[in-house]
Amino acid sequence: MAQGSVFTGLAPALLFFLLLGSGEGQLKLDFYSESCPRAEEIVKEEVKKLYEEHGNTAVSWVRNLFHDCMVQSCDASILLEDAANIVAEKRSDRNFGMRNFKYINTIKNAVESECPMTVSCADIVALSARDGVLLLGGPNISMKTGRRDSRESYTAQVADFIPRHDDSISLVLSRFQSIGIDAEGTVALLGAHSVGRVHCVNLVNRLYPTADPTLDPDYAEYLKRRCPSPEPDPKAVEYARNDRETPMVLDNMYYKHLLSRKGLLSIDQQLTSDATTSPFVEKMADDNGYFHDRFASALIVLSENNPLTGEQGEIRKDCRFVNSI
Ligand code: HEM
Ligand SMILES: *[C@@H]1O[C@H](CO)[C@@H](O)[C@H](O)[C@H]1NC(C)=O
Repeated sequence: MAQGSVFTGLAPALLFFLLLGSGEGQLKLDFYSESCPRAEEIVKEEVKKLYEEHGNTAVSWVRNLFHDCMVQSCDASILLEDAANIVAEKRSDRNFGMRNFKYINTIKNAVESECPMTVSCADIVALSARDGVLLLGGPNISMKTGRRDSRESYTAQVADFIPRHDDSISLVLSRFQSIGIDAEGTVALLGAHSVGRVHCVNLVNRLYPTADPTLDPDYAEYLKRRCPSPEPDPKAVEYARNDRETPMVLDNMYYKHLLSRKGLLSIDQQLTSDATTSPFVEKMADDNGYFHDRFASALIVLSENNPLTGEQGEIRKDCRFVNSI
């Protein structure tokens, strides 16, 4: 009977590993294949419709992924509004300028009407970014799903994870390192600044009282025309486009601009002056395919940062609020 007791002793452990192995509690490709087979298709259709009406929604979905996943977890905490026990992360100054949140509800509602309470807001954040990247001419990324939604926001922690526009490159590299993204991946992800806009409040530090010497002088003059006041009203819609040539294309123009000293944010331009990052800037400026490959792999790592899975968290009914118990 010695054998029998060995088996009895092993059974709980074995069961545990079998459960792990079955994918319970893990992200996987096409997580909704049985529970909501059209989930990814519906998200894609809605993202496309929104893009056709308001092109910059796709830009917002890419930034959403960074601001959600970088802080603690990819758990849609970025989407929460102020409520009892919740201070919205959107209130953090690091999340300044984020927009189009209302259209997330459009996507969620379309998914809810086909499969109620099945598809998480966190997966909608991830999938909409993935689909947005493709619509903006970026790489075709296959992304796992199965993330669950947080029941809390992390407003107090946002500033520990999301850098400022004028932080040092070494701080930025260490932030990304802490979630498993190396220097090459960090350089690639910042290529997201190939699309979208920057408000003057984030630029004037490079323009006044005298222009940053690392900035091309003609470009500095152009930016001063865009941002005529050293103290812009943060509420004024004064901004510059990240990329004047191809503002709505996720391409390597960003790196070409950096090499000609036309980086917009201080953190963008610093990529060329740091010995660790500058070789990657040159390679990416040279080869859009290489940029896209590195961008895709880093975006996957970002999208899989510390997710809630299995029975953790919840599937929110409305992405703006945790479910009431
Ligand atoms: C060191 C890291 C980063 C810093 C300091 C940073 C900072 C900023 C700032 C200050 C803006 C302008 C906001 C405004 O004035 O409206 C911005 C815009 C943007 N960022 Fe980043 N960012 C970083 C990394 C990333 C990453 C990793 C992504 C995505 C993969 C990303 C995607 C975007 C996008 C798409 C926009 C344009 C948003 C729009 O036009 O609405 N950023 N970022
Ligand atoms: C993207 O990849 C998917 C799955 O690998 C494929 O079905 C789809 O046709 C690809 N789309 C484009 C535009 O390349």
